Amino acid sequence: MSTLLALKALPVLAAGALAVDFPTIPKDLTTPYQQRLAIYGPNSVSVGWNTYEQLNQSCVLYGPSSSSLDQEACSTKSTTYATSRTWSNVAILTDLAPATTYYYQIVSGNSSVEQFFSPRTPGDTTPFNMDVVIDLGVYGTDGYTLSSRKAKKSDIPHVEPGLNHTTIGRLADTIDDYELVIHPGDFAYADDWYLDIDNLFAGSEAYQAILERFYDQLAPISGNKLYMAGPGNHEADCTEIPYTSGLCPEGQRNFTDFLHRFEGTVPTAFPSQSANTTAQALASQARSLAAPPFWYSFEYGLVHVTMIDTETDFADAPDGTDGSADLDTGPFGRRQQQLDFLAADLASVDRTVTPWLVVAGHRPWYTTGDGNACSPCQDAFEDLLYRYGVDLGVFGHVHNSQRFQPVYNGTADPNGLDNPAAPMYIVAGGAGNIEGLSSVGTEPSYTAFAYADDYSYSSLRFLNETALQVEFTRSTTGEILDTSVLYKEHATQFVDQ
Ligand SMILES: *[C@@H]1O[C@H](CO)[C@@H](O)[C@H](O)[C@H]1NC(C)=O
Ligand SMILES: *[C@@H]1O[C@H](CO)[C@@H](O)[C@H](O)[C@H]1NC(C)=O
Ligand SMILES: *[C@@H]1O[C@H](CO)[C@@H](O)[C@H](O)[C@H]1NC(C)=O
Ligand SMILES: *[C@@H]1O[C@H](CO)[C@@H](O)[C@H](O)[C@H]1NC(C)=O
Ligand SMILES: *[C@@H]1O[C@H](CO)[C@@H](O)[C@H](O)[C@H]1NC(C)=O
Ligand SMILES: *[C@@H]1O[C@H](CO)[C@@H](O)[C@H](O)[C@H]1NC(C)=O
Ligand SMILES: *[C@@H]1O[C@H](CO)[C@@H](O)[C@H](O)[C@H]1NC(C)=O
Repeated sequence: MSTLLALKALPVLAAGALAVDFPTIPKDLTTPYQQRLAIYGPNSVSVGWNTYEQLNQSCVLYGPSSSSLDQEACSTKSTTYATSRTWSNVAILTDLAPATTYYYQIVSGNSSVEQFFSPRTPGDTTPFNMDVVIDLGVYGTDGYTLSSRKAKKSDIPHVEPGLNHTTIGRLADTIDDYELVIHPGDFAYADDWYLDIDNLFAGSEAYQAILERFYDQLAPISGNKLYMAGPGNHEADCTEIPYTSGLCPEGQRNFTDFLHRFEGTVPTAFPSQSANTTAQALASQARSLAAPPFWYSFEYGLVHVTMIDTETDFADAPDGTDGSADLDTGPFGRRQQQLDFLAADLASVDRTVTPWLVVAGHRPWYTTGDGNACSPCQDAFEDLLYRYGVDLGVFGHVHNSQRFQPVYNGTADPNGLDNPAAPMYIVAGGAGNIEGLSSVGTEPSYTAFAYADDYSYSSLRFLNETALQVEFTRSTTGEILDTSVLYKEHATQFVDQ
């Protein structure tokens, strides 16, 4: 009890005595930071960024060459919340030619020209790679890469543009190897601010400083690659240590920072490209039931990707108002809305357009280690994934890399990787954060690969309509730790089994 009182008193006692490692505020307050791109629609991309002042107009110039940025997109969205030092801005670039390199410049007194590759048309059969990064935290004293917690702030290596950040560095070194990234949950680990003793007197300032640093560190990737975000528990976690919920910074409550950053940056669901009118109607139903950035879907060449929210909005959702994590967050939709969305979205997928169907979320139900599986997630989602023939389930939350044989209801599919009916599942939670790696622990019988010796991430290589190569890479060395090829015939246009 005395601990409780002492901790609650800290912010008051500490006023002014800040040791927080904030980035420097630029002289030109319109300078863009924390750039992030996302697929917004079949021919559109969102550019999100933060500034140290509110913008009346958030504008981006863009075009097919760096010397002819002949189009402009603007919005008036520039939002913040009480404890943040920055404003989140977004503009939507429309009418993009598919699979084309574009150049863009955020309108500011102090910005540079950057580039991105626009989304492939659904049904484009060109092979491409999509990287998967989950559970990625800040680099530096408040993060995971510094061995000694006692190092002085002045010893923090300056990260950009050298990018020695283990996983971000590997993503930078391999930037031409993948076309987009999905990151379903756990960004920055700003809610772990208290793990650095220097931050104990700084609460919400430390929290904001970590967020600013992290999204600055990510910007060389997320500002040049389509980077699709989803929610994880660390976007809402106020109770990692007992007795501190009274110290919960505002951005951390109920996904506040996550929403400011990603709301209006990702799509609802794409209009169906199928000739089948039922599929078209289901896709439009999915559009109206989506709640981005919590649950939504998009298509990219050979694949339809559905992002789900394993934190809130289903029975006994861990971060929901009655959930086991005691976070009291959400809901973000009406009762059943997420599950109705998922059913409509998955049922709408025409495999003659997008043969591959991937569902990505944060908490896994197939995982090694005792007590790591989210059984309410399994109860809510697994039957839908099986029924509509999802090929691959992508999850994180457990801080290591894992791959499972295709499995349904705890039983391995007898076909293995050779045209299984059940989804294959991976956990790609090893990207690195201040909480470190989770040991592998108990391995279910259908485990195909499990690795927790170093930071790692996954690459999904869509080779063609029937072959998907799944790789895990060790971030520090680039070594391929595991590779497998899932073969799916995709002979049924609308799977319903
Ligand atoms: C311009 O932006 C860079 C970061 O991109 C920053 O370091 C510099 O301080 C900014 N200059 C001004 C005048 O704000
Ligand atoms: C925004 O508009 C206000 C009033 O209309 C003006 O005073 C301010 O200078 C503008 N800010 C920027 C950054 O243009
Ligand atoms: C970052 O990596 C580069 C090249 O690998 C190396 O020369 C440099 O010393 C590293 N910097 C830090 C701060 O570790
Ligand atoms: C149209 O699509 C629905 C599912 O979206 C499917 O059940 C039905 O069989 C399809 N009809 C035809 C003629 O393929
Ligand atoms: C969280 O935010 C959502 C949407 O803004 C709101 O509907 C919900 O009531 C909030 N939940 C809590 C517990 O404050
Ligand atoms: C799932 O497996 C459990 C036993 O592990 C069994 O009781 C149950 O009937 C199975 N459900 C389905 C739908 O196969
Ligand atoms: C798909 O790629 C796999 C692996 O490279 C190859 O074996 C297979 O023949 C290809 N299938 C088609 C239809 O091109």
